[in-house]
Amino acid sequence: MAAKIIVVTNQKGGCGKTTLAMNLAGVIGANSKTLLVDGDPQGSATRWASSASDECPFPAAVMGLANAGDKAHREIKKYINNYDFIVIDCPPAVENSFTASVLLIANLALIPVVPSPTDLWSAVGIQKLITNVSVINENLQARLVANMCQGNVSISKEALLLLSEFDFPKTNTDIYQRTVYRQAAAFGGSVNNLDNQKAKQEFASLVDEVLQILNTDKE
Ligand SMILES: Nc1ncnc2c1ncn2[C@@H]1O[C@H](COP(=O)(O)OP(=O)(O)O)[C@@H](O)[C@H]1O
Ligand SMILES: [Mg+2]
Repeated sequence: MAAKIIVVTNQKGGCGKTTLAMNLAGVIGANSKTLLVDGDPQGSATRWASSASDECPFPAAVMGLANAGDKAHREIKKYINNYDFIVIDCPPAVENSFTASVLLIANLALIPVVPSPTDLWSAVGIQKLITNVSVINENLQARLVANMCQGNVSISKEALLLLSEFDFPKTNTDIYQRTVYRQAAAFGGSVNNLDNQKAKQEFASLVDEVLQILNTDKE
């Protein structure tokens, strides 16, 4: 069966694309054959994975395709039967042809957003792109993922209202701001390798949700 393709995208830098992509690929990759595609010329996903030790390598294969531009989807299609899941980390630019290209073959687009008004306003561009690509790729589903949530109420009323104005829903799972997420990059692992139950739990719950969404696919 062809791999299910998850694209992590938002034009805003620093909202958690690479953190989300690497932890998803790390957790999913522990049980399934997974490929992580690095589409960002900065190569942070590639560097993240290569920081892993020989004893505990990153549990997904990694491929850098930042230079593939609008041909990225063709390149990825060559590997679609070799993996169960392909997770794609996108560059922080909506006009980048890489993002539009990979959305053409994606099953699910995940848009990490920091739940504050300015961050949410800047997600409008990516919403437009995803909505446009959906006309061609009828299998494409999309979800916002609230990242770097803080406090007892993960998302303020104002931010919830803004979130509800988007064309796509947010995931039920919110990802909290935790120092451990910064540490995961340094030693090339995912939440699975961290001694933090809350972080493990929230990613386990997010992965469950993602797998459920992918199971409702028309394909
Ligand atoms: N939930 C979180 N808690 C704490 N730090 C986070 C969280 N998500 C991301 N970060 C940190 O924020 C910075 C930007 O995240 P990153 O994933 O690189 O964003 P992007 O790929 O969208 O530019 C990184 O230093 C990362 O470790
Ligand atoms: Mg990044």
